[in-house]
Amino acid sequence: RTFETILVEVNGRVATVTINRPDKLNALNTTVQREMAEAVEALDVDPGIGAIIVTGSKKAFAAGADIAEMAELEYPGTFTEDFMGNWSRLTRARTPLIAAVSGYALGGGCEVAMMCDIIIAADNAKFGQPEINLGVIPGMGGSQRLTRAVGQYKAMDMILTGRTIGAEEAERAGLVSRIVPTDDLLAEATKVAETIASKSKYSAMVAKRVTARALQTTLAEGLEYEQANFYAMFGTPDHKEGMTAFNEKREPKWDR
Ligand code: HXC
Repeated sequence: RTFETILVEVNGRVATVTINRPDKLNALNTTVQREMAEAVEALDVDPGIGAIIVTGSKKAFAAGADIAEMAELEYPGTFTEDFMGNWSRLTRARTPLIAAVSGYALGGGCEVAMMCDIIIAADNAKFGQPEINLGVIPGMGGSQRLTRAVGQYKAMDMILTGRTIGAEEAERAGLVSRIVPTDDLLAEATKVAETIASKSKYSAMVAKRVTARALQTTLAEGLEYEQANFYAMFGTPDHKEGMTAFNEKREPKWDR
């Protein structure tokens, strides 16, 4: 299926979703939002897919929600039509999402990266939540996910001043998983995605879900959730295969 604002490519067990509005620095309009939700939902339930890369162009992962589109909006419609609602469909994916960020990841761009599970940054990446300069605030999770990622003081600094930080500062702050030379970004993201996709799909999906829960609950409840899911793994064929393969000193062959 073809989309208007994104490209979807599948290579083996890895899918790549590329935001593709180059003349607008990948500004995230409602079409991008809907198409990304539809693409990721379809890939998520495809047993042949083990990891999904989300990326943009060299110059911009995404320079934010589409300001031209937002300039015309009024309050009643944003609420009744749930203007930003499709993004939550992306965050419901059980398949690991890897953001490969080159260039600008501003506003909604930074927020889409933070909807992913791993953020790989090119050394030219620039992250920021500049909404305050437009008379609004982050609206796709920035105030919540950024604060959980980097803590109160760095998040407040970024959100209240609107300043942009580079890849190094972002890594120091815990916003990115690793930094790579810009020209190696997709190769590195593909390597990470292939590694994850080569594992047991049950384990990867459940590990993502349980780890993500750490940000949403108390320690006691999170530990209980982890343990219940750990016990459930003993009901999968991959548990038998993984441990048998170890004991037989061979590579496991996962259920596909
Ligand atoms: C719509 C955008 C855009 C955006 C860039 N463009 N960002 N269009 N929405 N967020 C368009 C420009 O209008 C221009 O179109 C083209 O992309 C190239 O951009 P330039 O500004 O000419 O490029 P450059 O000079 O290199 O500057 C790059 C930039 C700047 C520093 C990233 O574009 C910029 O500041 N963009 C806005 C960043 C921002 O404020 N993002 C947060 C948005 S609010 P034309 O047609 O003129 O060539 C947000 C809210 C999320 O994300 C929360 C949910 C509501």
